[in-house]
Amino acid sequence: MQTNHELIIEPNGLDVEQLPKPLNWAELFGNDHPVELEIGSGKGTFLTEQAKARPEINFFGIEWARWFWRYASDRLRRNHCTNARAVRAEAGFFLTEFVPENSLSVLHIYFPDPWPKARHHKRRLLQAKFMPLAERVLKPGGRLQVVTDHQGYFEENIEPAVRGSNLQVVDYNRPGSASDGEFVGTNFERKYRREGRPFYAVAAVKSAQPIGNDLPLIL
Ligand SMILES: C[S@@+](CC[C@H](N)C(=O)[O-])C[C@H]1O[C@@H](n2cnc3c(N)ncnc32)[C@H](O)[C@@H]1O
Repeated sequence: MQTNHELIIEPNGLDVEQLPKPLNWAELFGNDHPVELEIGSGKGTFLTEQAKARPEINFFGIEWARWFWRYASDRLRRNHCTNARAVRAEAGFFLTEFVPENSLSVLHIYFPDPWPKARHHKRRLLQAKFMPLAERVLKPGGRLQVVTDHQGYFEENIEPAVRGSNLQVVDYNRPGSASDGEFVGTNFERKYRREGRPFYAVAAVKSAQPIGNDLPLIL
């Protein structure tokens, strides 16, 4: 394992203090390609695999843990992923303060921390109060994708939050980074798969029509 000292952050790793609010994706990436954002990118397996396979898409990772962010940034650099960036930030804060509304084509959340103890459930990222943030940043027609190994988190928070939101539940799409039988192919999925755990996935899209209360109700 590389030490912190050996990891090179630039050019893919970004310092949140240096970023404009709101971000301008086209300026950041130097093109106007669609942007897919991953929350909790860990060691950057998904970002790296997807950025290499799909150069016509820009990928952006948000990761709270400094070492994981540094590792993912270095990995993107080593793999020459000019279409990917990673920032160290808390996702709720970053989506609120930096991500322009209607700007993401996909929001990926794979194996979010489950906070299994009952007294910690309020720390779970994916719950009803998160959904307006997701709805705001997705483009019309944009998609949210979530996978977890934690049945309690899925049944108590994730699925009710997604189904109770203004997004429309659709079939989950396996990204190209997933090998045979995998949902997405992240480090956590591969580790949990070896342990034989089941997985739970949900996907939802933002309506291509603007959501308004003034539309006549047609029965
Ligand atoms: C269980 S790991 C999964 C990592 C990766 N997605 C995977 O599947 O291998 C969850 C990751 O989300 C990060 N994380 C948790 N809450 C976060 C938040 N609010 N904002 C940004 N990152 C967060 C953690 O630091 C951790 O790296």
